[in-house]
Order: sequence, then structure tokens, then C-alpha cells
Amino acid sequence: MVAQYPRDVRCGQLRSRAWGLEMTLKWRRRLLDALHSRHHEEAQADKLSSRFTMTEASPAIEVRGLEKSYGSRQILCGVDLTVPAGETLVILGGSGSGKSTLLRCLMGLEKPDAGTVKVHGHDLAAVPRETLSGLRQRMGVAFQGSALFGSLTVAGNVDLPLKELTDLPASTRRIIVQIKLALVGLEEAAQRYPSELSGGMQKRAAFARAMALDPDLLFCDEPSAGLDPVTAVGLDRLLIELREVFNMTLVVVTHEMESAMTIAQRLVLMHKGRFVVSGTPQEVRQNQNPVVRSFLDRVPEEEPPGGLRYQRLIQAWEDDD
Ligand SMILES: Nc1ncnc2c1ncn2[C@@H]1O[C@H](COP(=O)(O)OP(=O)(O)OP(=O)(O)O)[C@@H](O)[C@H]1O
Ligand SMILES: [Mg+2]
Repeated sequence: MVAQYPRDVRCGQLRSRAWGLEMTLKWRRRLLDALHSRHHEEAQADKLSSRFTMTEASPAIEVRGLEKSYGSRQILCGVDLTVPAGETLVILGGSGSGKSTLLRCLMGLEKPDAGTVKVHGHDLAAVPRETLSGLRQRMGVAFQGSALFGSLTVAGNVDLPLKELTDLPASTRRIIVQIKLALVGLEEAAQRYPSELSGGMQKRAAFARAMALDPDLLFCDEPSAGLDPVTAVGLDRLLIELREVFNMTLVVVTHEMESAMTIAQRLVLMHKGRFVVSGTPQEVRQNQNPVVRSFLDRVPEEEPPGGLRYQRLIQAWEDDD
């Protein structure tokens, strides 16, 4: 029998984020109970467990020799990475260094040219389609550009994965959507469309959608870019809470050094398609590799010899004429 949700849970009760988080915990348990009861038959349970086999020893993510090119441009040049379950990894790196490309490979959205990407022990390039989609259901993603559907309200966007990937009744989904929106402080904006939100609100809505299915692996691409400092700190806190309360594995790409140092258990710095350093925030701060120093100390790249770049550009135009 499917467990019933209590009727007295009202949207109005979901005011504070702390309370929202607490509720999420309760609802997560209830949701799992409900799903468990629904799929009570042995056969169904067997099918699920075979789709999601994972050994205790499997890291959440294991990447070996990953290479990816677009046309003749090689973006990832042999990336090796292991992310133990429950770790918060922050990926730093200059613009265009390949961070988002790496995230897409980790989610199985891009096919590597060489190397392997394993998630919970499964090689994404080798698993059957059904397993891949099962694994994807355990991943949440907040894309760099929010990627909300403009024709759906905020609530509709958060509801979408629940509607498409579960068979929960609409009434239950509505409550889950409210909880997720409360988590990111967007309860009041539930019925607005993405075009009616500020950039920061869109980011938070994308984050709520990424959390919709209670993923155990969450990818965030520049979660706090464009947010005011107070909201950004709130989001950092939320990420830390998620790790601590749900033991979620987080992979976060960010340019915000303060945020990176606050949330990371481990940091990697990507440069020209490779990691040049990997360590705790403290270790990375003390690293003397010139690329690391230049990134952390915000020292711009040296001008190529022969004068200022723009002067050479103008010279090139004049030469063309
Ligand atoms: N689909 C694509 N087709 C062709 N080139 C691409 C594609 N996606 C990314 N690139 C190129 O790959 C390089 C790395 O892009 P990527 O988006 O991974 O960088 P990034 O490190 O996330 O940068 P940013 O910090 O600006 O978001 C860039 O030069 C980009 O132009
Ligand atoms: Mg990017």
C-alpha cells in the first residue's frame, strides 16, 4: 500500500529555509517509504537493485584518461579524477579551460573521445540505456545558464522531473515542489515565469529543479555567479547542509574563490584541459605552482612579447587593408 502524506502539511508552513530543510528530511524518508511500498513486489525490487548496483567501495565518480575535442580543438587532455561518495569537490579554472565540458562528460551528456567515466562503478559509455537513465535520475544538475523552460512557471520547472520520472500523484508532487522552492527561498515566485525572475532567482529556481528528485550526486555549474553576496553565502550554506544532512556528493564549478574555499573539501584547478593541482583548500592556498598562484592571486596572463595585444590587433587590421 502506498503511504499517505499527512493532510495538514500546508504550503504556508514552509516559510523558513531551515524548516524547509527539516521537512525535506522528513519527506525524503516518507517519499522513500512511499516509493518502497509502491514497488513492494520482489520482482520490481530486484529490477531496481540490478539497475542501481553499487558496491560500498565504488567511488561516486571515477575518471581515467578522459579526452574530449571539439573539431580540431582538444579541450580535455587526459583528465584523471576520483570523487569519493559524500565528498564536495570544487572545480576551479579560467574561462574556457573545459570545466563545463568536464561536467557534461561526468553526466554522460558528452561522449569522451578516449578514457572512461564511471559513476557509482558504472562506465557511462558501456552501460545499457536503461542503466544510464537510472543513473541520471540519481544526478541533479544546475546548469551554468539555468536552462529553465520559459513556457513553464517556476513550480512547473521544478515539477518537470517529478512528473516525467516518477509516478507520484500531483498532490504529492505539489508538496515536494513547495519544499524545494522553500529550500532556495522562492516560495513566493512559484507561479512566475522564468522571464519574470531576476538572474539570481533563475539560478535558485534551477537549483530547486536540480534537487527535485533528491539526487545523491549534484552537479552545480557556477551556482553563485550573478547572485548578491548575501544570497551567494546562503547558497553556500545550503550546499554544506546538503552534504551534511543527506551525505550528498557535490561537484561544483565556480569562479568565486570565497565560495570555493568555504564549501570545498577538495579543490582541483583546471588549466589547458588538465588538473594542475588537487588538494584541500588549505593545500591549494599554499601551492606554489605558477599557474595556481596566478589564478589565486588574480595575476593576469603576461602580455605576449611585442607590445600590447590591441596595438598588434590594430596593426593586423591595417596590414589587411
Ligand atoms: N559544443 C561545443 N562545440 C564546440 N566547442 C565547444 C562546445 N562546448 C564548449 N566548447 C569550447 O570548449 C572550450 C571549453 O568550454 P567550457 O564551456 O568547457 O569552458 P569553461 O571552463 O566551462 O568556461 P567558463 O568558465 O567560461 O564557463 C571553449 O573554448 C568552448 O568554446
Ligand atoms: Mg562553463
